[in-house]
Amino acid sequence: MFLLCILLFVSISVFLYKRRSLPGTNWPVIGMAPDLILNAYRINDFATDLLKQGNGTFMLKGPWFSNMDMLLTSDPTNINYVLSKNFPNYPKGPEFRKIFDILGDGIFNSDNEVWEIQRKTIMSLLKHPDFNSHLEKNIKNKIEKGLLPLLDLVSHNQQSIDLQEIFQRFTFDTICSLILDFDPEIMSVHLPYNACEKAFTDAEEALLWRHVLPEKVWKLQQRLGIGKEKKLTEARRVFDEFLYKCFSRKDEGFANDGRVEKEETTTGLLKSITTSFQGQTGASGDSRTYIKDIILNLMFAGKDTTSASLSWFFYLVAQNPNIESKIRREIAKEVGDGNWKSLGVKELSSLVYLHGGLCEALRLYPPVALQHKSPSEVDVLPSGHAVNEDSKIILSFYSMGRMESIWGKDCMEFKPERWFSEGGKGGVRHEPSYKFTAFNAGPRTCVGKEMSFIQMKMVAIAIIYHYHVEIVQGHEVCLGDSIIGHMKHGLKVKLSPVN
Ligand code: HEM
Repeated sequence: MFLLCILLFVSISVFLYKRRSLPGTNWPVIGMAPDLILNAYRINDFATDLLKQGNGTFMLKGPWFSNMDMLLTSDPTNINYVLSKNFPNYPKGPEFRKIFDILGDGIFNSDNEVWEIQRKTIMSLLKHPDFNSHLEKNIKNKIEKGLLPLLDLVSHNQQSIDLQEIFQRFTFDTICSLILDFDPEIMSVHLPYNACEKAFTDAEEALLWRHVLPEKVWKLQQRLGIGKEKKLTEARRVFDEFLYKCFSRKDEGFANDGRVEKEETTTGLLKSITTSFQGQTGASGDSRTYIKDIILNLMFAGKDTTSASLSWFFYLVAQNPNIESKIRREIAKEVGDGNWKSLGVKELSSLVYLHGGLCEALRLYPPVALQHKSPSEVDVLPSGHAVNEDSKIILSFYSMGRMESIWGKDCMEFKPERWFSEGGKGGVRHEPSYKFTAFNAGPRTCVGKEMSFIQMKMVAIAIIYHYHVEIVQGHEVCLGDSIIGHMKHGLKVKLSPVN
């Protein structure tokens, strides 16, 4: 009896000890709720721990009746299957549309024909032969008149600056100029406040909480006008006000027959989008609302994804001064006797080290850290997990970049060389999109990938060519709570000029 008691005691102790060393436990009734609450501040890293525990796929149980069970996966074969091979069975679906209702009938929220038409039209506009030269002119102008004067001032006065905020301002100005033919000019030495720019951050935070809280809870918050839902309602109002005002101003530039009356209206996409979707109305039944949804989706797509990537790139560069010097040398070689402005879209492809650095930032800190999917019909994933119409599948792009099984033992290192082509011919290495998922994969792959690389490279060149970047001592850098991988406390840096 005594021996049996000892055996029982040892077994229970070993069981409890093993449990302690696991990152999370699915308890009866409450599921993984305690671990989720305790790890809410590091939710993406917690998901990564669970996925390591589950060899790339993990069933996370929510409390009973909360409808929060989720199948997490970072397994490239599952990702390839869901996003490409069995794409028709994994639409955005009604659950996604419910959470992202602020996006209305825009491309992110659409499936089937509505999605196909929007995607085709947007791609044809971005692939227009004049688009890249217009983009280049736009970005160079913003760097010269907005970014560099501000950075010069800050560096001259030896002040610190939040680079994340600067990049958010920069990308807001450029996306507005490109799409709306209107430059709000918030990237300037005066750093003016802009409610619409701020509303993006608020909306992106609220949308993450809609993933974490039970639907009944966030719907109640919405009805009562409290918490993050209050900010989301306000953001919706601000977007509408800003965009409809832009539309009205543009209307003044168009004659009744659609001819362009003012010279300045000829460049941006607003007129082309309005013409392309003329007569279409979406679910709202109103064509103006439909155009507003399409434009708002493009702003969500292109603004903070690019600014977050730039922020993490500079965070990694600042921690690796030797890499900063290598990128600067590469730029200097390409610039030759000219200056940063002599590098146009064509020359950017020669900057392989810079490209590798940006890909590393996107791998370790993908701005879209996760994506959720539900199948239309019952299915079995390549990992052997069965799913049905009620399943919530979370594709963790963040975890994928941190898996030794995908990127090797040095996966946590910032190594631009990882992206050099094999054989040392000086090109960029291609990685399949179901492995490098920052831009999504399959038929819904990001259509703005090239545009974002052009913007990120030009901004990175202008900064690294002129300044050495150092993070302010003691400044804490960590991911915030948002559907976009922003830094919670921004990126406070000091800049010193380089000769
Ligand atoms: C570093 C910058 C960027 C990253 C990391 C990125 C990433 C992504 C990801 C992950 C998706 C899939 C989202 C989903 O289906 O839920 C996506 C879709 C999309 N992106 Fe980007 N994006 C970036 C920049 C841009 C830019 C500058 C534009 C241009 C306006 C753009 C336009 C789009 C569009 C229109 C879609 C929807 C595609 C579809 O559903 O068919 N993106 N992007």
